[in-house]
Amino acid sequence: MKIAIASDHGGFELKEKIIAYFKTKNIPLDDLGTHSADSVDYPDYAHKMAHYILNKKADLGILICGTGVGISIAANRHKGIRAALLYNKFVAEMAKKHNNANIIVFGGRTMRFEEVVSYIETFLNTSFEGGRHQTRLDKLDKE
Ligand code: RB5
Repeated sequence: MKIAIASDHGGFELKEKIIAYFKTKNIPLDDLGTHSADSVDYPDYAHKMAHYILNKKADLGILICGTGVGISIAANRHKGIRAALLYNKFVAEMAKKHNNANIIVFGGRTMRFEEVVSYIETFLNTSFEGGRHQTRLDKLDKE
């Protein structure tokens, strides 16, 4: 599975920590920026990631802004994107099991690195249930 990651300045520090963590596991992440703590606009990184996922350059995206809210809103404007803000283990599990999220989102100013890593691991170790949940996903882009 190929994973890409992007953030604005509010998520930059957490993004760097996540990249370093995956490096220790020999899992390279595609880093779509930002590349410093200088102020940038989160929609630019959400749109970049959405296109990356929709063009099948990665199977899963990780997005981070200060709270995770703005970058979720921006990513979810793209048809076919299911960006989920993971804020506890149960949500991390359900976001895969029921929602089959293709982007997972975190808040760089609201969440600790250790909890974020545990949510990523939970998400990656869970499978989509399909069935009635696929029927619901099919309805997402129909309006
Ligand atoms: C940037 O200051 C901040 O607004 C952004 O990172 C994010 O939290 C927006 O939702």
